[in-house]
Amino acid sequence: MQEKPANFTIVIFGANSDLAARKLYPSLYELAQWGHLPDQYRIIGVGRALLAHEEFRAQVHKKLLTLSPDTIFDEARFTEFCSRLFYVSLDLHECEGYKELYKELMDASPETGLCDHLLFYLATPPDLAPVIIRNLDQAGLGGKQMSCGGWRKIIVEKPYGRNLQTARELNAVIGKVFNEDQIFRIDHYLGKEPVQNIMVFRFSNGIFEPLWTRNYIANVEITIAEDFGIRDRGAFYEEAGLLRDIMQNHALQLLAAVAMEPPVDLTADSVRDEKAKVLRSIRPFFPDNAGESVVLGQYEGYRSEKNVAPDSTVETYAAVKFYIDNWRWKDVPFFVKAGKNLSVTETRIVITFKCPPQNYFGPAESCSYIANQVILCIQPEETIALRFGAKRPGEAVITDPVYMKFDYKTSFTEAGMTPYHRLLLDAIAGEQMNFIRQDSVEHAWAIVDSIRDAVHGIPPELYPIHSRGPESAVRIYS
Ligand code: BG6
Repeated sequence: MQEKPANFTIVIFGANSDLAARKLYPSLYELAQWGHLPDQYRIIGVGRALLAHEEFRAQVHKKLLTLSPDTIFDEARFTEFCSRLFYVSLDLHECEGYKELYKELMDASPETGLCDHLLFYLATPPDLAPVIIRNLDQAGLGGKQMSCGGWRKIIVEKPYGRNLQTARELNAVIGKVFNEDQIFRIDHYLGKEPVQNIMVFRFSNGIFEPLWTRNYIANVEITIAEDFGIRDRGAFYEEAGLLRDIMQNHALQLLAAVAMEPPVDLTADSVRDEKAKVLRSIRPFFPDNAGESVVLGQYEGYRSEKNVAPDSTVETYAAVKFYIDNWRWKDVPFFVKAGKNLSVTETRIVITFKCPPQNYFGPAESCSYIANQVILCIQPEETIALRFGAKRPGEAVITDPVYMKFDYKTSFTEAGMTPYHRLLLDAIAGEQMNFIRQDSVEHAWAIVDSIRDAVHGIPPELYPIHSRGPESAVRIYS
């Protein structure tokens, strides 16, 4: 972990992107207000549109006011923040343009020139990443080309490639230009407080971990549901689909956090070693086992969304039964469901324990009415609940399920940071634990590719919007 540097420049490729507007500028503004950014900081937006610095500043101002109404604005401070914003217009494919960026960096600090601390942020579609990285290298801005003073790092947004092959190609390209400790593959789920808490919950408490195995756990269910559609991201979704957009990263990262072994220590690589091992142990999918393990869906009306093909077969929902073929989890199903335009927005993980050996209190042969569960709610609630059976007051012995609940909101008063606050700070500090390492990215793609290949040619099942998803999703539980 490095100290807060004296100076810092973040260069955002995709300066006019939705991500930059919704997440990056508000987070940077707030980090600056809270005093978390180095005193000498600058934000350089890079985009294709021709904009003067002032026009760019006005745009960012407008976007923040409309998209981040919760951000606390203080006009004087905001004006100060705007004075740190600069803009470079270039064609990302043309090496020539990167000289402008080089010049902008030099102009800003003629003394130290390119020796300042530089963080490149690729908020661009995945196919542009190799192009940008090669051009940075050509322009003398690669991480390995740094020979003085500061550091150079790069954050690459998900999806990282679009399959195993392109992820490997991207890893090869980026590996030529940056060292692994300069590369930050971001998955914002790893910046969420309740996600970071999974490891703390498991490994700082003696009472859960001994039960956290196939001997006591019947199944694990992970749900990432959203009650809205693809919004205005039709072009992106047509290329990605839910398996690439959510399953390959957010969902498999949650699964890895639940299933990983205790790390040797808390260094980034020890933790990431354990996550990589889980992903490597996931049983691959084949056409003959995918029928019962994978259900893909598409919400009704998806094909009429802007920039979506009228006969699109892209999935907006997936329900997948995973198995992790290792000592701890052999034959325990991990049911993972994720989808757009469902009835609720919620992310949660439910760990269901096996029945007690004797069922005294319920219908014979069944304990599901009272199943013991640990329920980790990631959002919108940030809670952990323990579900168990209790005797209903009265003469008869009747057992009802009850809950014990921990809620972040009531147990802690500290104001939380958003994932982007936290992960930007981590990248500046050089802390990589909550970024995805090359091997995990590739293992996750290998699994998702095997799902895609196994169900190739099977059209997704349509489901009504604001429903629970395709009816046949129940198949994965059989
Ligand atoms: C993004 C996906 O990575 O995560 C979106 O591209 C999805 O499709 C979003 O809506 C969900 O993030 P969060 O933090 O709102 O759950």
